[in-house]
Amino acid sequence: MGFDATALRAEFPLLARGGLHYLDSGATSQLPQAVLDAVMAFETTSRANVLRSVHRLAEAATEAYEGARSDVARYLNVASDEIVFTSGTTAAINVVARSFGDMLQPGDEVVVSQIEHHANFVPWQMLRDRRGIVLKALPLTADGRLDLAALGRVVTPRCKLIALTHASNVTGAVTDVASVVSAARAVGAKVLLDGAQRVPHGPLDLAALGVDFYAFSGHKMFAPTGIGVLWARKALLEAMPPLLGGGEMIRTVTLERTIWADVPHKFEAGTPPIAQAVGLGAAVRWLSALDWPAVSAHEMRLTQRLLDGIGQIGGARIVGPAGLQGRIPVVSFDLEGAHPHDICQILDGFDVALRGGHHCAQPLMDYLGLAGTTRASLALYNNDADIDALLKGLDSAAAKLR
Ligand code: ALA
Repeated sequence: MGFDATALRAEFPLLARGGLHYLDSGATSQLPQAVLDAVMAFETTSRANVLRSVHRLAEAATEAYEGARSDVARYLNVASDEIVFTSGTTAAINVVARSFGDMLQPGDEVVVSQIEHHANFVPWQMLRDRRGIVLKALPLTADGRLDLAALGRVVTPRCKLIALTHASNVTGAVTDVASVVSAARAVGAKVLLDGAQRVPHGPLDLAALGVDFYAFSGHKMFAPTGIGVLWARKALLEAMPPLLGGGEMIRTVTLERTIWADVPHKFEAGTPPIAQAVGLGAAVRWLSALDWPAVSAHEMRLTQRLLDGIGQIGGARIVGPAGLQGRIPVVSFDLEGAHPHDICQILDGFDVALRGGHHCAQPLMDYLGLAGTTRASLALYNNDADIDALLKGLDSAAAKLR
């Protein structure tokens, strides 16, 4: 099939205007025309509430919304009724921490790691304080990966859940899921992955991955903001109590009691983000049509250029894995004596958009002994000119700040 990087970038109106080297896709990616068109078509031809009224427009809206669910399920190779739409990764993980979490007993253990985004850390601390569970954190290795050798020590028979990032939003390191799943299975624990950073980099086979929960957001994978996904095995969703009560999550309501709707609707109280879900459906259809080996090769070639280029700048140091093995195209670095915010501001003057700071991963920053890092997070639309601009700007920032 092949991959034409120039033609693909031209599909993104915001980038096609020129004048911007957007390297902050780990925070929010841009939207391709296919997604913009799908949202516009929905809003102008099918806008109505879903799963309620029986008029034609409402049926078209329901079909678009449930169609998006099937598209997402195909992207993950799972069943459609295991896809719960949420507002994003944070909401998805909070559903698990509240619903599955409240079924845990005092003394039960949940294992996270020190590399987690706050979205996969704070909800578990809140659960600890609410339910008296024990929260443990896997340590890291010197190059900023999870220390999976510690699994045998940290994961005990009291462990009920291991909740880890699939790919770090700071270092780009991808988790070796097989070791985690086998440590969990050995003690009958479940595995949750925070897939927010992994999903923009190609379709997944969750069935093969062997995990139990998977959470991610639309806005990092070329879809609108305000939509995300919690995938969980159906038996788990059926056993878990709903989090929010209200319209559409019920089968019947009487003065005495309420019977829940079937999954996944049991977890989707109220009017959902319909157009956003339609946009997410369009994004995964668009992503699924790409030649992924070619796209990944493109992303990794640019990542290697970035790693090499940063390595040549005096005082700059990559934070996280130095090579391409087991990583997504997210690269953090530290420039000795320079604050990440100052670097980002200087780079903005070169039309380069980066993120600097703690990246919502303060326990990781504590481990690294840094207040923050500067991060370039690439997506499939980036090109050599973006890397050139970043390296040129960084040279100038290093000269000014060091
Ligand atoms: N979680 C997003 C990031 O890493 C916002 O930038």
